[in-house]
Amino acid sequence: MRQKIVAGNWKMNKTLEEAKILTAEVMGMVADEVKGNTSVVLCVPSPYLLPLKNQLGNSSVKIGAQNCSEHDWGAYTGEISALMLKSMEIPYVILGHSERRQYFGEDGKLLAKKIDKALAASLTPIFCCGEPLEIREAGTHEKLVKQQVEEALFHLSTDALKKIVIAYEPVWAIGTGKTATSQQAQDMHAVIRMHLASKYGEQVASEISILYGGSVKADNAQELFSCPDVDGGLVGGASLKSREFVDIVKGMK
Ligand code: 13P
Repeated sequence: MRQKIVAGNWKMNKTLEEAKILTAEVMGMVADEVKGNTSVVLCVPSPYLLPLKNQLGNSSVKIGAQNCSEHDWGAYTGEISALMLKSMEIPYVILGHSERRQYFGEDGKLLAKKIDKALAASLTPIFCCGEPLEIREAGTHEKLVKQQVEEALFHLSTDALKKIVIAYEPVWAIGTGKTATSQQAQDMHAVIRMHLASKYGEQVASEISILYGGSVKADNAQELFSCPDVDGGLVGGASLKSREFVDIVKGMK
């Protein structure tokens, strides 16, 4: 059975004090909501990783980073390596978010290297893919997303691929309030899974968790999460409010 995951992506938000309060609230409320096969992850700004990880202690809520370098160590001012995350026992890292692709020029070749570094450090990458609006309107969204998956992941061995979590985030749905319909999400998730199956076989593809991201809210989470190929969500804005985020987690039944 595939792992179900609801991950919050806080992006570049919150002071440390606010972050601690949000973490405490989520931790307190989510305890009863986390079912056996569902993981709840908070992907927080880098400076808060360690304090919030310590705050979470043995809680069922896990912590994740939002990016890591393609290098291990060295003269890369401002960067954070997968080995640093490993040394802090951070289990998850988001890679390839559309904001990283758009504002920091990250492409498939670079992301393939980052994926390798994350896996070598025993982190679980949450690999993001998704098309911008013009590509959706041109009708070439499936082709682009398959290409994104191929570029960053298809060099991996079967064992390595099994450690990846994929998040499909249509760029036009991120921060816009315009969620993909559950049919649009299901269709693309099925395309991604079939593409994985074409290279790694159906059994392996059926084991990969594919999350949906893009304006997930408490009032649409349950419908999205009930799609057969949607294994949870990567939540931006709504993860900054504890009640809303926990209500999204509750949508995972
Ligand atoms: P929103 O939920 O704010 O649309 O953001 C989605 C996202 O980018 C999560 O990584």
